[in-house]
Amino acid sequence: KMPRKFIVGGNWKCNGDRASIKALIQALNAGESTIGSGVDVVVAPPMLYGDYARGLLRSDFGVAFQNCWVGGNGAFTGEVSADMIKDAGFDWVILGHSERRSLPEIKETDETVATKTAYALEAGLKVMLCIGETLDARQSGKTDEVNARQLAAVAEKVSDWSNIVIAYEPAWAIGTGVVATPEQAQETHTQIRKWLAENISPQVAQQMRIMYGGSANAANADSLARQPDIDGFLVGGASLRPEFLRIVESWK
Ligand code: G3P
Repeated sequence: KMPRKFIVGGNWKCNGDRASIKALIQALNAGESTIGSGVDVVVAPPMLYGDYARGLLRSDFGVAFQNCWVGGNGAFTGEVSADMIKDAGFDWVILGHSERRSLPEIKETDETVATKTAYALEAGLKVMLCIGETLDARQSGKTDEVNARQLAAVAEKVSDWSNIVIAYEPAWAIGTGVVATPEQAQETHTQIRKWLAENISPQVAQQMRIMYGGSANAANADSLARQPDIDGFLVGGASLRPEFLRIVESWK
C-alpha cells in the first residue's frame, strides 16, 4: 500500500448546528497536525455550513460537499453546482452515497451519479465516489456484480480517474453498528481493484485509494486499516465525535 496515501473522510451527513459544529471543530483542531504526515483528512459538513466550517477548521483539513448538481449553473432551483463549490474554495465532493441512491425521495441512479462525477471532475473537484451493495445483494452473492455495475456507469462517462477516490460502503453496514469484517472488506476491495485493473488500467487499479465506510469507529479501525487494500475510511456517526481523530491515527 506504500504508494497510496491513506485518506480518512468524515461525513457529517445532515447533522449539527452552528454550536455543535463549532465544538466538534475545536476538538478536531486540538488534535495532531497531519501536515507532512501519511494521511489526508477531509470532513464533509452539511452544505449550508461549508463556509462556516472552513473558516474554523485548521488548514490541513480538507472540506468536502456531500452532493452537487449534475451540471453547471442555471435554472435549477435548490441545487448547488460543482462550479460553485470549486469557486467557493472547496476541493472535494462526495457522490453516490448509498443514502442518496436508496432514499425514495432522492433515488439517484447509477447514471445520475456518473453524470455528476464527470461534471464535478470537469469543474476541478476531487470526487469521493461511493459504491456498495445492499444486504439482499450480499446475501445473494451479488456484491461484486453491484460494485462493478456502479463503477461501469462511471467508466462510461469518465476517462481520467486520477482525481477520484472510491469509498466502498456496504449499505448493511451504514449506521447499523454492523461493521464488515476486515476479511470481508479486504476481499471486496480486492475485487474492486481487480475490476479497475481489467476495465480501466492496471495503473489506475494500483494507484486508486479505496476507503471503507460503514460503522467504522475507533475500536475497529486498526484491524481494517491493516488490510493491504484498505486505504482509508469514510466515517459517518463516529466522525461527529472526537473519536474521529483516533480513526485518523489508524494510518500509522
Ligand atoms: O459516508 C459514511 C457512512 O455512510 C458511514 O456511516 O455512520 O456507519 O459510519 P456510519
